[in-house]
Amino acid sequence: MSLNPPLRDWNGKRVWIVGASSGIGAAVARALLEQGARVALSARSAPELERIAVPHGDAAIALPLDVTDVAAAAAVLERIVAAWGGVDFVLLCAGTHQPVRAWNLDAAVAHRLVDVNINGVFNCLVPVLRQLQQQRKGAVGIVSSVAGYGGLPTALVYGATKAALINLAETLYLDLAPRGIGVFLINPGFVKTPLTDRNTFRMPALISAEEAAQAILAGLGRGEFEIHFPRRFTLWLKLLQLLPYRIYFALVRRGTGL
Ligand SMILES: NC(=O)c1ccc[n+]([C@@H]2O[C@H](COP(=O)([O-])OP(=O)(O)OC[C@H]3O[C@@H](n4cnc5c(N)ncnc54)[C@H](OP(=O)(O)O)[C@@H]3O)[C@@H](O)[C@H]2O)c1
Repeated sequence: MSLNPPLRDWNGKRVWIVGASSGIGAAVARALLEQGARVALSARSAPELERIAVPHGDAAIALPLDVTDVAAAAAVLERIVAAWGGVDFVLLCAGTHQPVRAWNLDAAVAHRLVDVNINGVFNCLVPVLRQLQQQRKGAVGIVSSVAGYGGLPTALVYGATKAALINLAETLYLDLAPRGIGVFLINPGFVKTPLTDRNTFRMPALISAEEAAQAILAGLGRGEFEIHFPRRFTLWLKLLQLLPYRIYFALVRRGTGL
């Protein structure tokens, strides 16, 4: 039995994607628009949002937003509700990454990643949860990462923000599933996007943003709680988590060479 009400028929559905200007969020936006959904696209880069929205006429609206601005996040949701009368699915996908190791930890960098990856989610989540509970239906998806499963070199701050989101989604699910509101946790492996284009190391099982979008839609359609992909990579990472730390640390060192 699926943990969430499956999301399959997107025709006419009202969707808000935060972090829709590039990468995974943009690919999900395009895929849902193709399936007949109405999509509100948010991120900071207004021209990128417009480029995706314009060909779809009234079905897509570009609503620029910096997720670190708490008042702006609530105002964008208000505009969506005013335009469409409610929202059926919200995908919180905005995030940023910067490699950090113990010897170059910098408080300003850490605060920036926490501000976007964690506080940005809370800034959107608060008005979204109010709206979904008022409607008594709808669903929210939080994009975390397999980097949140356990410690990995270079992910000193990023991994911590993503681990926080995994815990957040689990707790949200416990609270909201009995009230009929869907909560999806999305944990991608490596996806080729502007975020990973900066990586200098070889990324195992790298997939395209379009493949990631298809995996997300398939998981939503099955009502899965955790949507993780590609499985040929993520299942190994899940297995690693079951091992004693002595073996986990040794395998991570060997696998990453770091
Ligand atoms: N690519 C991967 O391998 C991978 C793996 C696991 C998890 N993820 C997660 O997937 C999500 C999407 O990443 P991506 O790979 O698709 O990277 P991306 O192409 O860089 O997309 C990041 C999105 O977040 C938006 N964003 C960043 N800061 C923002 C802010 N302050 N306010 C509003 N929007 C902001 C960006 O738009 P603007 O710059 O226009 O604001 C962009 O739309 C992230 O949460 C990332 O951590 C990615």
